[in-house]
Amino acid sequence: MSERAPATPILETQGLVAGYAASRVLFGVDLQVPSVGTVAVLGRNGAGKTTLLRTIMGFMRPSDGRVLVDGVDVTGKPAAHLVKLGVGYVPQEQGVFAGLTVRENLQLGLGAGGRGSKARIEEAFELFPKLAARAGQQAGTMSGGERKMLSIARAMLAHPRLLVMDEPTEGVWIGVVDEILDAMRTFATGAAILLVEQHFEFALGLADSVLVLDRGTVVMRGDTATIDRAAIAKRLAP
Ligand SMILES: Nc1ncnc2c1ncn2[C@@H]1O[C@H](COP(=O)(O)OP(=O)(O)OP(=O)(O)O)[C@@H](O)[C@H]1O
Ligand SMILES: [Mg+2]
Repeated sequence: MSERAPATPILETQGLVAGYAASRVLFGVDLQVPSVGTVAVLGRNGAGKTTLLRTIMGFMRPSDGRVLVDGVDVTGKPAAHLVKLGVGYVPQEQGVFAGLTVRENLQLGLGAGGRGSKARIEEAFELFPKLAARAGQQAGTMSGGERKMLSIARAMLAHPRLLVMDEPTEGVWIGVVDEILDAMRTFATGAAILLVEQHFEFALGLADSVLVLDRGTVVMRGDTATIDRAAIAKRLAP
């Protein structure tokens, strides 16, 4: 009988320790993201979720532990290196260029552009019709939720293999949230998402597995289908 070796996760952290100046925020975080599907990270305000994503993306250097992409150590490599490996990032703060139009922001997501870029942008507009209607508008004049949508569309149109998303629905009107969730669901059928989300229900509706971060430590983890939801709710209660 042949037994298949377990596939290498697209992303793995091992014992990640990180923080700011004197304050330690992450106390040895281990996580694995398989190459297809969604992993959600839940946790209260200040639990260290954004710090975790920023450390993974190479914006911060961990004081201990490792970040692996496809099993290869990328700890301390700059974000540009991860982007080259096919990792996209949607920051918690809206990462769009205020002085550029919607279309120009999307073009930047494609880097140098070139063949097929027009089709990719049309694809993004199909995914988010609300952006199509505002193609010529300066991003800085759009609402917070619209800017968030633009940031997500830009990250998706580069076709990353892994999309790291920090609260993609934060501050977004419920009608637009559905649009974002649909886009993420479609995306995650052929790629991986590492998602930080405050909305417990959205996260569980989308993710295949979840982990709960409390003061920089993973206190619960498991498959969405079987994890004890009441226990998670308790962990997230103020
Ligand atoms: N640049 C910084 N300098 C110093 N401390 C910071 C900095 N950024 C975050 N912190 C602190 O690190 C801790 C974790 O912050 P982090 O942003 O990772 O939390 P979070 O889980 O993403 O919270 P939220 O749900 O509010 O986004 C908090 O106590 C925060 O005050
Ligand atoms: Mg955060």
